Amino acid sequence: MSAICAFILTFSTLCASRVVSGVLSGPTKVHFTSYNMNLVLRWDPPHGAASGLLYTAEYKSKVSAGYSIGCVNISTLECDLTSLNEPIFEYGTYFGRVRAQSGSETSPWVESTSITMDKETVIGSPNIYLSSNRATIEVSIEDPVFALSSLRRVYSDITYNVTYWKDGQDEKAITISSIQQNRIVVDKLDPLTKYCFQVRINKQLNPTEPSTSVCESTGSEEDIPWVGVVVTFVVLGIAAALVAVSVVYRRSIYHFLCPKDSLPEHFKEYLLEQPNSTIYKAMQNPQPPEIIADVIVVEGGPLEVTAPTCIKQPDITVDQR
Ligand SMILES: *[C@@H]1O[C@H](CO)[C@@H](O)[C@H](O)[C@H]1NC(C)=O
Ligand SMILES: *[C@@H]1O[C@H](CO)[C@@H](O)[C@H](O)[C@H]1NC(C)=O
Repeated sequence: MSAICAFILTFSTLCASRVVSGVLSGPTKVHFTSYNMNLVLRWDPPHGAASGLLYTAEYKSKVSAGYSIGCVNISTLECDLTSLNEPIFEYGTYFGRVRAQSGSETSPWVESTSITMDKETVIGSPNIYLSSNRATIEVSIEDPVFALSSLRRVYSDITYNVTYWKDGQDEKAITISSIQQNRIVVDKLDPLTKYCFQVRINKQLNPTEPSTSVCESTGSEEDIPWVGVVVTFVVLGIAAALVAVSVVYRRSIYHFLCPKDSLPEHFKEYLLEQPNSTIYKAMQNPQPPEIIADVIVVEGGPLEVTAPTCIKQPDITVDQR
C-alpha cells in the first residue's frame, strides 16, 4: 500500500513539475570568473536536468546596447569569452546570460552577476628565480602573464612582498614589503645556509596567489674567486684540446691550408673542349688526384697552372718516449 502511495506521489510530483513549468528550467549559479585577466562564464545544469543539454551563452559590457553571442549549442558548463571577436577590455564591466536547450525545449535566460575586470580578476602567482653569491641571494621576480594587456600596464602601482626564512624555520620568516622593482638582493645572510623565498604581489582588493617557495644555499664567506678559477680551467682545457686536435689532424690541416688541385675556370673549359685528352679522362676518374697535377706539369701548354707554393714537409713525429 505504502509502495503504491510512494509511486503515485512520485509520479504526481513529476507530472506537476512538468505541468507547472511547461518549459525547461534554466541553468543555475551562472557567474563569471577571471584569472590573470581572462573572462569565463560558468554555470551548473538546471535542477534535476537530464543529460545531453546544450547551452547558449551571451555577454555584454556595461556600455554596449545588446548582448553578443559567446558560445552556441555547447555541452560544456563554461564559455571562455577572452578571445572572441568582440574584444574584452581590461577595465570593462561585463554581464552574461545563459540558457539551456533540450530538443525543441528552451529554458529562459538566466543572468549572471556582473564582473569588473581590473577590480576582480585573480592575480596569479609570480615566478621567482634565486641566485646566490656568498652571503647574498638575488631574487628575480617574473610577473604572471595576463590574457589581456600585462600586469604592469593594468596596475602601474604594483609592489611585491618578499618573505624569506632559513629552511625549516618558517616561523621566523622575515618579510620585505612594498618592493617596486622585480629584482632585489638580500644580503648579510648566514654563509652556507639554505634560505627559502616566497613572493606575493601586493594588490589591495584583488585576490592574489603567492609564488611557490624556492630555496637556495648561500656560499662560504671567504672571497673565493670562483669565476676566475672556472675561466682559467676552461681556457686551459680549450688550449689543450686545440693542441691535441692539431697534432692528430696535422695532415688534413696542411692539405686544407695548401689545397693541391684547385683548377682555374678557363682551364676547366679547356678540358671539357677536348674530351679525348688524357687530362679529361683523368678528370673522369677522380680517384688519384695526383695524376691531374702530374699531367698538367708534363703537358704545360697554353695554360699556366701556378703550382701551390706550399712545400711538402716531412710529417712531424711526436716523440712518445
Ligand atoms: C542550435 O540548436 C538549435 C536546436 O537544436 C538549432 O535550431 C540551431 O540552429 C543551433 N544553432 C547553431 C548555431 O548551431
Ligand atoms: C605586504 O606587506 C604589508 C606590510 O607588512 C602588508 O600590510 C600587506 O598585507 C602584505 N601584502 C600581502 C599581499 O600579503
